[in-house]
Amino acid sequence: MVDTPQSLSMPGLEDGRKADEPCTIVIFGASGDLTARKLIPALYHLYTEGQMPASFRVVGFARREKTDESWREEMRLGIEKYSRTSSVDAAQWQDFANNLSYHRGDLTDADAYGGLAGRLAGFDDAALTGNLVFYLAISPSLFGEVVDQLHAAGLLKRFEEGDSNWQRVVVEKPFGHDLCSAQLLNNHLIRHARERQIFRIDHYLGKETVQNIMMFRFSNAIFEQLWNREAIEHVQITVSEDIGVGSRGGYFEEAGTLRDMMQNHLLQILSLVAMEPPPSLEAEDIRNEKVKLLKSIRKMTPGVVAKNVVRGQYFAGTVDGDNRGGYRQEERVNPESNVETFVALKLFIDNWRWSGVPFYLRTGKNLPHRASEVRVQFRPTPNVLFAAQDDLDLHANALTLRLQPDEGISLRFNGKVPGNSIETRPVRMHFGYDAEFGAYTPEAYERLLLEAMAGDATLFIRRDEVETAWQIVDGIRAGWGDTPLSNREFYAAGTWGPVAADDLLAADNHVWHIPVPAK
Ligand code: BG6
Repeated sequence: MVDTPQSLSMPGLEDGRKADEPCTIVIFGASGDLTARKLIPALYHLYTEGQMPASFRVVGFARREKTDESWREEMRLGIEKYSRTSSVDAAQWQDFANNLSYHRGDLTDADAYGGLAGRLAGFDDAALTGNLVFYLAISPSLFGEVVDQLHAAGLLKRFEEGDSNWQRVVVEKPFGHDLCSAQLLNNHLIRHARERQIFRIDHYLGKETVQNIMMFRFSNAIFEQLWNREAIEHVQITVSEDIGVGSRGGYFEEAGTLRDMMQNHLLQILSLVAMEPPPSLEAEDIRNEKVKLLKSIRKMTPGVVAKNVVRGQYFAGTVDGDNRGGYRQEERVNPESNVETFVALKLFIDNWRWSGVPFYLRTGKNLPHRASEVRVQFRPTPNVLFAAQDDLDLHANALTLRLQPDEGISLRFNGKVPGNSIETRPVRMHFGYDAEFGAYTPEAYERLLLEAMAGDATLFIRRDEVETAWQIVDGIRAGWGDTPLSNREFYAAGTWGPVAADDLLAADNHVWHIPVPAK
């Protein structure tokens, strides 16, 4: 049952930036962390900035006993504690909170969905009853069950041309744990919703700086013309975190960094950095290009994995003066666990533009600081003019897209040190978001929720995209097999991963760029 992506025009698609149509957002997992930390704060900010539809409702669905009032109060505290607003304006909150209600129910209990349908039917506007965003902030093992139940209760159906209302399903990661499980999940969802009704989240796509990658590439001629194998020697993508797995040991034992970060966030950044220009900014055009790119990544055989993929696990160390225990000592982690908390890899994109250009990707937990960046290393100039000056400090140009936390872009080039001698020094041109646009940067979830309400799927992952990413990851996992971690695959917390990650680049005469920490 594959949809032709643009075969249907759905209400709400025309205005991609602002959600105009009244709708109800039902959050499954309403007492969970994500709801309090991200979802409600994002909706509240959208509300205070006048970006929510004139009429909307939010229904929290979860098993715990709560009243509307107690849930609202928890949500208000969540905003104060976790969001970019530390104090909530009482009047604005009251107006917003009037739209929030709590529905107690078990995800597997048909009656709870019947009750939900009754509650929605009680809303005074037919659009609030019929235009529904179901946000599944729950364990992926329950996604299938929830959509079945919603369908049985008459709340979710495949969209047909001419329908006056729409329903959309937003699903959180992890979307499966390998290709096969992702396919099964997709097959399940597609029984009751068309692909255009399914919004698979990768919160990195909601980040301003990640969205800016496309703008930067395709609206700046000087870079656009150099964005290829002729001018670029290699590309590095680093997403480093200064935290360990914390209380998520149980989840991480099942996931590991390859699935948790590489399969989604890093491959998404890679596809935006390397894809061909889409014919338009339509969701399907952009996603087609991203899928094409992922499909051009050279297959990793076990031999290639052994050579080009480095995994690691942190042991006790110090991050920014703070003592950290090892991964194996974390809560709910097997003391002999072989799960990776770090991955670095080299890959090639076998297409015309990138033939022969290595892409190095790395990500890990308990690294020295939190920073995500894309580093584009250009080729050097022919060393003709300055060949005689062998003590000259000449560096090839490098462009750094700083995705977080010090958001901005820097370009490195060589400058002559003032004076009579020929001495050069690498200097930089900087662009910083804060300096240029002020401190306000909406959080990723604000944008993503807005887009889901507006029905624009550009910032969400399409079925073939998620499946292609799993294929890549499955190839790497197959290469690792059941081999336990060797001694050289461990790294002390607070370092940049195992030495083998440095060796991976050293073998090509490159070094990792150390990302800029927060100011
Ligand atoms: C999540 C991962 O998707 O992204 C976490 O599950 C990780 O393990 C987080 O910490 C990082 O997101 P951000 O936005 O803090 O870079």
